[in-house]
Amino acid sequence: LVEYAEKDIFACSSPNDLLNVKAKYLGKKSLLSSLYAQMRNIPVEERPAFGNLINEAKKRIEDLLEQQNKVIKENAWKKNEAKAGTDLTMPGIFSSRGGLHPLTIIRREIDEVFLGLGFEIAEGPDIDDDFHNFDALNTPLDHPSRNLADTFYLEGGGLLRTHTSTVQVRVMEKYPPPIKIISPGRCYRNDKPDPSHSPVFHQVEALVVDKGISLADMKDMLSQFASIMFGKDVSSRIRPHFFPFTEPSAEMDISCVVCGGTGCRVCKYSGWLEMGGAGMVDPNVFDILGIDSEFYTGYAFGLGIERIAMLKYNIPDMRILYENDLRMLRQFKGEF
Ligand code: PHE
Repeated sequence: LVEYAEKDIFACSSPNDLLNVKAKYLGKKSLLSSLYAQMRNIPVEERPAFGNLINEAKKRIEDLLEQQNKVIKENAWKKNEAKAGTDLTMPGIFSSRGGLHPLTIIRREIDEVFLGLGFEIAEGPDIDDDFHNFDALNTPLDHPSRNLADTFYLEGGGLLRTHTSTVQVRVMEKYPPPIKIISPGRCYRNDKPDPSHSPVFHQVEALVVDKGISLADMKDMLSQFASIMFGKDVSSRIRPHFFPFTEPSAEMDISCVVCGGTGCRVCKYSGWLEMGGAGMVDPNVFDILGIDSEFYTGYAFGLGIERIAMLKYNIPDMRILYENDLRMLRQFKGEF
């Protein structure tokens, strides 16, 4: 009897279960009660022994019930505590904290610089179409950048944007001037990874459109950015170049800098580092997007974010930024 009771009792998981089991084994209709009732049919001399036996069984069952009752209460308490999480005496749970990826740190730094210079941040999709990536940017149909070998076209139509200039188009489509935005984001080109190329990379685009914007404003903005990002002694220069969507077009350089733990300084022997493309928005682009090129002028530029990160953190090979080697990433732990 005790064995059966024990099994039933240990199976109980709530106070209610326990009550039922208690009634079953100790209640009025229980076997135990009927054993008590049978006492009088037992020969007198055997009664004490018989009585002891059932008393013992009863005591044992009561103990078991009490024991299981404690277990149930304790479990309920633990459960509650887990929910509320308030046991202040428990030792803390160690959690290892991550850090930001160096590219994220630099992107945020760039955002801050431009936000401080009065820009707003615009975004566009990574998957875009010929119109936003090429057509609206005045790119002729036979331009080499449209080549299948350079651009990732998607099977269902569309492409992975090859530059963030797509966002220039999206912003001009949607908003009338004055415009003053930057747009950081991923770009894709069918390049073999090497120390300075990656099929996925990041650019930050800038676009400023208003009445009376000139090349001097563009040059000034680039200089300001360079000196905030790399130090006030850093200067910039622009060299003639060509892009279908800017006229005139330029490539932008900053004076050679070396960076270390304490910041950046201009190289001892002068030299220049290429930072990206720039130019005055081509009137054709304005015409395509319905902005009156009689009244408005603007400039745009696109900077390589990897380039800036590699300079600032002294990273010799772009691929290091994508391998996610913990020994590299750990050096940025705690950067938020
Ligand atoms: N989109 C160009 C590139 O990816 C850079 C650029 C941006 C040039 C804006 C001019 C103006 O190379």
